[in-house]
Order: sequence, then C-alpha cells, then structure tokens
Amino acid sequence: MNIVKKKKNYTLVFDSSGSIFIPKFSILVISDLHIGKSYSFAKHGNFLPPYDIDDTIERIKFNINLYNPKKIISLGDSFHENSTLKVINNSHIKKINKIFKNIEVYLIDGNHDAELKFKEKINAFFKESLKLGNFNFKHIKDTQNVNNLFEFSGHFHPKVTIRFNKVRYSFKCFVLGENFCILPSFGTFTGGLNINSNVLKKILPKKKTIIALGKSKLIEI
Ligand SMILES: [Fe+2]
Repeated sequence: MNIVKKKKNYTLVFDSSGSIFIPKFSILVISDLHIGKSYSFAKHGNFLPPYDIDDTIERIKFNINLYNPKKIISLGDSFHENSTLKVINNSHIKKINKIFKNIEVYLIDGNHDAELKFKEKINAFFKESLKLGNFNFKHIKDTQNVNNLFEFSGHFHPKVTIRFNKVRYSFKCFVLGENFCILPSFGTFTGGLNINSNVLKKILPKKKTIIALGKSKLIEI
C-alpha cells in the first residue's frame, strides 16, 4: 500500500515498507538499513538470531520487484559498523550484490558507516551526499534549507505513538515538511526515536505531516 504526494512538482510514492519511489527519476529511496546489527550485538555477548540481514535484503528485493527502479539511494547507516563487510557472511554480500545488479546504487555515508571498510565488496557508489534536480539526499537533516532544495534524510529513525482505546501503539513513520522528508529506518532490527522526543522537537517544525507505517497500510496524521 502507498500514499502519493507532490513535492517540487514531482510525484513521491510513500510505501508502507518505509521506502519512497520517485517515478520521474526512477529512484527508490531507503534509509538506515543497519545491515549487520545482529553481528554487532553478538560481539558484545547479546546473541540475537542473525536473520535480520536476510529479512532486510528480502524487503529491499520486494521493493525492487514492485517499482523496478533504475537507481537506489540509501541515505546512510546502510551498514551498522565500519567493519560490517568484514564480519558478515560472504553469502550475504553475494545476495546484496545480486539484488543490486543492473541498478545504479548510491550509498550515502551515515554516522555508523562513514569509514566503511572493504567498500569494494559492494556494487555501489559511495557518496557523502547526492544532489539530483531539486532534490538533495543526505544522512542527517540540515538545520537550514540549502538552495531551496527538497531534502531527503534518515538518521533519526522517527516513530510516532498513536492512542487507541486507551492503548498506545508505536509506529515507524515518515516526517514530511515543506522542504524535507525524514525517512523511517528500513532495517529489520532498528529501533526508533519518538517525534515528540526533545531531540526531534528541536529539529522539526510545528507544521508537518506524519505518515505512520501500519502493518499493511499507511496512516497519515
Ligand atoms: Fe541509523
């Protein structure tokens, strides 16, 4: 399920998986995959089953089959640690390269993977940020709007809490402003930061649209 909106005269398709498809440029935008997070936890004695990588890859594959993008832009923290490509199983790297085959993939530096080692193992271009038409793609939202560009970012893993029948439900969400969109974390083992937390309150304008990721549908707030 998806919600379609116009920004800078371009159509944006918000997908319930947490991705955005931009038909004009045939770009699929995702953020904060945190591939390798379970391996990272295991190093510290926290043995989560390492199935998050397969699940995240499968969900990207599902999006590729759905939208058939020419380009994929991942907005940073694609990998959980700078050493992830050394630590994870080679079969995972093969799987990642297989789904990226014939697609121009741009991996934006995040705070978790800015110094990523063994980048050559992945078929992708690594960028600090990326400008395309009226769009700017980066990891952390700028405090000021640069050159009137519409900015896509990740980093905060935004979540929203909705009360229903006196029960609180928490959902990952997109935060959409006049000139920006913060994407939810796409990775399977990723947590989130509430949009009403002090950190996000300082950054976000009062006027904004929240698009929450329900189980099978999106809820616009
Ligand atoms: Fe992140």
